[in-house]
Order: sequence, then C-alpha cells, then structure tokens
Amino acid sequence: MATVYQTIPQLSQPHLLTLADYSAQEILDLLDLAIKMKKPENKHRPLLQGKILGMIFEKSSTRTRISFEAGMLQLGGHAMYLNTQDTQLGRGETYGDTARILSGYLDGVMIRTFKQEAVVELATNSTVPVINGLTDDYHPCQVLADFMTILEVFGTLKGKKFAYIGDANNMSNSLMIGAAKVGMDLSIATPAGYAPNQWVIDAAEGFAKESGATLTITTDPKEAVNDAHIIYTDVWASMGQEEEAAERLAHFEGFQVNEALTALADPNYIFMHCLPAHREEEVTTAVLEGPHSVVFQEAENRLHAQKALLVALMADPSIEI
Ligand code: CP
Ligand code: NVA
Repeated sequence: MATVYQTIPQLSQPHLLTLADYSAQEILDLLDLAIKMKKPENKHRPLLQGKILGMIFEKSSTRTRISFEAGMLQLGGHAMYLNTQDTQLGRGETYGDTARILSGYLDGVMIRTFKQEAVVELATNSTVPVINGLTDDYHPCQVLADFMTILEVFGTLKGKKFAYIGDANNMSNSLMIGAAKVGMDLSIATPAGYAPNQWVIDAAEGFAKESGATLTITTDPKEAVNDAHIIYTDVWASMGQEEEAAERLAHFEGFQVNEALTALADPNYIFMHCLPAHREEEVTTAVLEGPHSVVFQEAENRLHAQKALLVALMADPSIEI
C-alpha cells in the first residue's frame, strides 16, 4: 500500500524559469515534499509512470544531468538527453519552434543554456512544463537543493544568516532571490567590479521587503561572514567565462573561503558550494573537506529536490500520494 504523505503541491506557474516565479509558500511546499521524497521507502514511487522528460544541454553537467535522469527513472518515467550538436538547435532552429515540436512528444523539458531569453522563449512556446537547469542568469534547481540542505541541518530557513563570497553570478542571483523570498538574511561579498547587477538587487530587495529579510552587498568578505550560519561560494569563472579565468584569479585574491575567514562565522556554520569546486582557488581543501562542509549532502539533494519539482510540475494532480 502506498504511503500517504501529502497532496502534490499545486504551483501557480507551469514552468520553473526563476524562483521569482514562485511564492515563498510554494518554495516551502516543494522543499517539504523533497524531504519526504528522500525517505528510502519513497525512492521508487512511480508518480511519473510513462512520462518523458527531454533534457537539452548546451553546457556541461555532471550533477544536473545525472540527478534529473536518475530522478525520472526512479519515478517510473524516462529521460532523454538532447544536445545542441545532435539536434537542429545547433543549425539554427529556434527555441520557439523546438518547443512546439517537443511539446508533441514529451511531458516536460529541462534546459541548460546560456541566455535566460532562450529558456523564456522555450517556455512561451511550450505546452509542457519547462525547467531551467542553469542559465547565465539563474540556477533555481540548485537553490532548491541548497535550501533543502539548510532545512535538514537547521530545521528552518527564516532568520538564518547567509554569506555568499566570490563572484556575483547565476548562483548568487538565484540565492539572492530565494533567500529574499523565504526570509533569510543574505550578505554578498564580491570584489569591486564583480557586484550583482542592479536588476537582481532590485528584485531581491522587493521580495525582502515582503519577507522581512535583509540584503547586504559589500566588498569585504569578513563583514559578510561575520556570525553567518551558512557560507557559500562558487567558481570565480563560470561556464562561458573560460577566457577570463586568469584575470579573474588575480581580481578575486582575498575572496578565498579558508579557515581564517570561516573562523569569523557562527561556531555551527555550514559550508556550501554548488560544485564543481576549484580547490585552493575559491575554497581550500581544508574547508571543503572539513567538519562544517555539507557539499556532498547538498549535491545528493539535487536528486530529491528535483524529484519533488518534477512531481509538482508533471504528475497527474489527482494521484494520491
Ligand atoms: N551544481 C551543478 O549544477 O553541477 P553540474 O554542472 O555538474 O550539473
Ligand atoms: N556558476 C557556475 C555554476 C555551475 C553549476 C557556472 O555557471 O559555471
């Protein structure tokens, strides 16, 4: 007999393009489902029996590709890996036309690409759910796994102090939006010239006003980390910025997460990183492998958080779970 744990969360938006699209309650409902999906007895619930997810990758991936594919298989469905080279996307077929074609074959599409506009064009023309698996602007699926991990460790998100150190990129954008939505106080420290864009600051400040969260933007990593419960970093050169890597290495000096910096955090702080990490660049091995690091728990949670998302977006809402 099936374990009854809750009804499938009904999301107000059919696609996940950015966390800005979902309310704080919708995000919390997804995380609640994710934590339940992680229980071993729920690993193989066939909630997406016979459903097919297409996965378009225009950038590399280990975690996203494998966790989505494994998640679909565990849910009784199927996942199809699609790349630019082997589809007509590489020869100029538009995202809009591609979406109209894929909608006739598939039950959902996940895309990892460069421009957020590509994901928007895909979703606008799709009659099946579209999930953003990372763009230059956002990485919302990673943030679902990150927040799930914080909930597992601390039992709450609201009121926790979150310090992000390093490059203002797709990760920090999604974390800023997500934290502001759910009421976490976020401080971001970047070198001068690498600060978050004004559009994301404005969006996050708008959500923070509603939740009561605070947002601090600084060029001083020590200020950001002071008393933090969560320290997060990401690579200094993201996918697509390979040519800037050497220049960035010089500009980010002083922004490494190391034991001298983490000493300023709350004694029970956790260290997080979306991975892949460049050891001894943005983080030392001592911190990454140290007792406060939860990076591998966080990476595993990609699977569970995405299974919850896939179920919420693609399962028949009348299914009793
Ligand atoms: N964190 C993350 O998205 O990893 P991949 O690039 O391996 O998918
Ligand atoms: N900011 C990184 C995240 C990788 C998961 C990138 O875009 O390459």
